[in-house]
Amino acid sequence: MNLYDIVYTPLDLPPCPKIDLGKLDSWIESVYPQTELLKQSGNKLIAGTNQKDEFPWKVVWAKALEWKNNFDKLFPEIVNYVVNDWGIPDQDILALTLLPKRISDQSKGFWHSDLDKLGLRFYIDFEDTVTDKLIFRKTLTNKIEDKNLFRVFKTSSEIENKIHTAGIIDHRQPYYLNNYLAAHSVENTTDKRRIAVIIATNYEIGANVELKKKIDNLVINSALKFHNQAIFWNDWSDGIGI
Ligand SMILES: [Fe+2]
Repeated sequence: MNLYDIVYTPLDLPPCPKIDLGKLDSWIESVYPQTELLKQSGNKLIAGTNQKDEFPWKVVWAKALEWKNNFDKLFPEIVNYVVNDWGIPDQDILALTLLPKRISDQSKGFWHSDLDKLGLRFYIDFEDTVTDKLIFRKTLTNKIEDKNLFRVFKTSSEIENKIHTAGIIDHRQPYYLNNYLAAHSVENTTDKRRIAVIIATNYEIGANVELKKKIDNLVINSALKFHNQAIFWNDWSDGIGI
């Protein structure tokens, strides 16, 4: 097994701390839409919004090169979580993007991959992990190409038909997803809250080799530990002993 064989895995890190969700909802409502950021396209801030802002979630930046709208002052627990628990220094955090589910939006079968190479995510809150789902489809080939990873898959010409459901172990879990060899989507079946967060690092804009190595080890060890919840391209068990 190598890193790219891992399509999805929870990460062996502490869950995101509990925060005041009402306060966060109010903050999101007060800052959205961040028009100047939403208008950008093809940037390295994990915008993915070179399409219209019509995803099954809102796109809200807590950080985009710099902290936005006092997020770091209002929610220091989240900043500390990424810096201390993930071990990613503030200056290495390129962007922190919050994706609160649009309650009114049911699933659109929006199969896509995101722009970021490291695929680092966590949930601030994933309330109904039973009927709301994070789902994956593997790409047809396992060729790793250095290209724009943000892709929307409208047909089955590049991805398998078989749908894999991510095993969620905690309402505030950290996790990894593979943007190279998989597409992902969500199934919104309830009006319950789900706020996913993308951690984009300066690995996107430079060769932060040490960070990459550290994250690769974390992802592989986590996938071995959580192999019952993880999704793999191939059989996971040949990863034992690496
Ligand atoms: Fe995504």
